[in-house]
Amino acid sequence: MATVVLKRTSQKMPLVGFGLWKVTRSTCADTVYNAIKSGYRLFDGAGDYGNEKEAGDGVRRAIQDGLVKREELFITSKLWNTFHAKEHVGALAKFQLGLWGIDYFDLFLVHFPIALKYVDPSHRYPPEWFGDDGKVYLQNTPMSETWAAMEGLVDAGLAKNIGLSNCQGSILLDVLRYAKYEPQVLQVELHPYLTQEALIKLCKHFGIAVTAYSSFGPQSYVELGIDKGTPSLLEHNVIASISATHKKTPAQVLLRWATQQGIAVIPKSNNQDRLVANLDCNSFDLSDSEIKNLSALNINLRLNDPGDIDVQMSVFA
Ligand SMILES: NC(=O)c1ccc[n+]([C@@H]2O[C@H](COP(=O)([O-])OP(=O)(O)OC[C@H]3O[C@@H](n4cnc5c(N)ncnc54)[C@H](OP(=O)(O)O)[C@@H]3O)[C@@H](O)[C@H]2O)c1
Repeated sequence: MATVVLKRTSQKMPLVGFGLWKVTRSTCADTVYNAIKSGYRLFDGAGDYGNEKEAGDGVRRAIQDGLVKREELFITSKLWNTFHAKEHVGALAKFQLGLWGIDYFDLFLVHFPIALKYVDPSHRYPPEWFGDDGKVYLQNTPMSETWAAMEGLVDAGLAKNIGLSNCQGSILLDVLRYAKYEPQVLQVELHPYLTQEALIKLCKHFGIAVTAYSSFGPQSYVELGIDKGTPSLLEHNVIASISATHKKTPAQVLLRWATQQGIAVIPKSNNQDRLVANLDCNSFDLSDSEIKNLSALNINLRLNDPGDIDVQMSVFA
């Protein structure tokens, strides 16, 4: 299995993993179990996805049945925005580990560089973006405080690697100024409509591994009604033609475009056949000109932008 070696721990992170956002809760345990059976070793979860317990049930069953050992899996989770204060980071990581039924995360990420007012998990979990009145409440917790608490997770053995998500260069550079443990992974939206070359170059310079999310572009956002009316990447004629040349699916072409550039991917599918095909995306190579033609589709289209929810959260402004 192709991997990316993470700086500091030298741990190998699989280049292709399985994304858990919008994996249906009632079928999540079976989906995770079957994904492990099909060869997936990395699972990308988050408190916000509301299915950590079910994903953990699938993992536990796979371990019990002898399909895999815990140390062969790479489990990622994320700290939600309402838990950025130093007194909440450790408590929430422990709470999330309890849901998964494991005692450490391979990778724990700050989900967004946005601190929101604390919501007690016994009141509402996952808390999502809003207070009880449907309004967004920012909280004045600087990233330096959150990052120091994330480093505490490493020291306590609760997370082997820590990183960031949805951050641009300025936040990365800020964290690098005071980090005892540098972020090892940056997870961002990345597909041929949003290629983010400058950010990738910056990460490469500092040895920060990049994971792309929403590799299929608008597809993930259609079911939420927030795909911004952009033509599908999976049906785009440039991708159709490359996919015909290699006798591969459009989805495999989109994933390979990233992995061939050393960028990890975490496609999500509720469908067993698609999930299997997605994992097999490294079985061919694109030519340099095909990669260039795919990258030329860039229109800086960002589908996952909290600024669309509330202007106060315009972290990509
Ligand atoms: N850090 C963050 O803020 C953040 C944000 C978004 C996502 N993520 C992570 O990244 C993962 C992947 O991103 P994503 O879920 O947004 O999107 P994605 O993996 O790009 O796309 C998922 C969509 O594509 C469909 N699909 C999957 N495989 C397909 C195939 N082979 N052919 C055609 N359609 C296919 C899925 O439908 P079916 O299920 O019906 O197959 C679903 O509608 C998430 O699950 C999550 O773990 C992180």
